[in-house]
Amino acid sequence: MQPSDKPKKKPSELRSQQWFGRQDRDGFAYRSWVKGKGVPHDQFDGRPVIGICNTFSELTPCNSHFRTLAEQVKIGVYEAGGFPLEFPVMSLGETLLRPTAMLYRNLASMDVEESIRGNPVDGVVLLMGCDKTTPALLMGAASADLPSIGVSGGPMLNGRWRDQQLGSGTGVWSMSEQVRAGTLKLADFFEAESCMHRSHGHCMTMGTASTMACMVEALGVGLPGNAAYPAVDGRRNLIARNAGRRIVDMVHEDQKLSSVLTREAFENAIKTLAAIGGSTNAVIHLIAIAGRLGLKLTLEDFDRLASELPCLVNLQPSGQYLMEDFCYAGGLPVVMKEIAAHLHTGIVTANGKTVGENIADAQNWNTDVIKPLATPFKDKAGIAVLRGNLAPRGAVIKPSAATPALMQHTGRAVVFEDIEDFHTRIDDDALDVDESCILVLKNCGPKGYPGMAEVGNMPLPPKVLKKGITDMVRISDARMSGTAYGTVVLHTAPEAAAGGPLALVQNGDEITLDVAGRRLHLHVSDEELDQRRASWKPPKLTLESGYWKLYTDTVLQADEGADLDFLRGMRGAFVPRDNH
Ligand code: FES
Repeated sequence: MQPSDKPKKKPSELRSQQWFGRQDRDGFAYRSWVKGKGVPHDQFDGRPVIGICNTFSELTPCNSHFRTLAEQVKIGVYEAGGFPLEFPVMSLGETLLRPTAMLYRNLASMDVEESIRGNPVDGVVLLMGCDKTTPALLMGAASADLPSIGVSGGPMLNGRWRDQQLGSGTGVWSMSEQVRAGTLKLADFFEAESCMHRSHGHCMTMGTASTMACMVEALGVGLPGNAAYPAVDGRRNLIARNAGRRIVDMVHEDQKLSSVLTREAFENAIKTLAAIGGSTNAVIHLIAIAGRLGLKLTLEDFDRLASELPCLVNLQPSGQYLMEDFCYAGGLPVVMKEIAAHLHTGIVTANGKTVGENIADAQNWNTDVIKPLATPFKDKAGIAVLRGNLAPRGAVIKPSAATPALMQHTGRAVVFEDIEDFHTRIDDDALDVDESCILVLKNCGPKGYPGMAEVGNMPLPPKVLKKGITDMVRISDARMSGTAYGTVVLHTAPEAAAGGPLALVQNGDEITLDVAGRRLHLHVSDEELDQRRASWKPPKLTLESGYWKLYTDTVLQADEGADLDFLRGMRGAFVPRDNH
């Protein structure tokens, strides 16, 4: 990609010039402190100023290589005649941040939006990797709506332990169950820890980070190839460098984020989500991002648009391979080309080309990793949306990661009031449970946890595991890691802590899960439920002040994207008043 020779914006048309183009006292101040790092005066001559929004943090190991990526972006910006200025925003690491990185997604998005609006930038490059950094940056950038381009950090190299391939997350879930069942020694478990994550990058399964990197590409907000090149592959640096070049042109072309993130782009993303067998978390994130643009995505959109599409990608947790294999097979352009007849191929993406142009030359180099549409990996694999008296506003399940025999199941509820109750009792041999039961976990939704933690894939009771059983129906208002699997019903809305029917389920109640019929039914009469509701009390908040209080007071339910209610919408990048 070469910098374009298309018409350029006049300096007076750039918002950065309202800082740097001034001849007065304030202009002196705006330039002088920046000059302190050796910037020459002619750098303020009206060239586009590009903000590089960086989520580097040593506390976010998946994004630990982002300083290198930022340097590549800077080179690209300079090559295209722009002026790059890097800035940090709150980073969200999935593995260390407690109680859950999701609690802070909306907070980070505010940081992004306000950092963009309050600073002299004309366009933004978004560096994102670990799960929540991607939606947080897209949400914030969407509300500010400057020209913006996404660069994902790229997946790690495949995990490898002895003669086994180890998928991040997915391997942890299965190995920890083996330890609990007594079939894997603790020493081996510890050894595998060093083998699963052996390079820079985000999780290399089709978990939430890889899914969201695919969404960045499918939405057209990142460059072709964004999803799959490993973090340590030279082509990852090239993506960053080309993004740096391209964002300068996007500023000159006034290609705002809202012109890329259209309703059609979201529909492409939803269909691609099905074809990759992507994470259920993407449902919440896409709804939240769309909400920042004033677009209303509903759970029904996911079912309507994608439930008939097959899963083509044979990657863990639904399948066998990992992201490095996906890259070598040709990556996301191959998938999108396979389902091109279902996509809006005429819409323009961040690189100025249409979706159709971007995928035209894609070639499938490994049809075991990416199956052709005619012989898919799994039929009808999108996200299924369930409704019923247990989930009036919906719940979701990922059929490609579920056990087919359990997708039509009636069982006795074994109820856990919260995650502590679950941990206290699940390993107890006296627990009255067998594999036909349905595990129900309450108070793990947006308000309840708070932050809607990834605890929905509850570990099975050891006495069930010891029989060789590896899946049971599980229902909660929580989320599940995109790397996890099982017949797991998630995002039940309204959540228990908001008084949803989930709060009223009692041990021994019968529940029917009917995925084909899209139904989740609690076999308890309305009269009985009314009685139970009359004696229900909301759980106490963990914190009565600070951000947690703001969050629990204003967070929307899962079906609306779990954004804070006052953050929805686009506020633009008007230039605020001078600061002195
Ligand atoms: Fe960061 Fe999985 S922990 S992507």
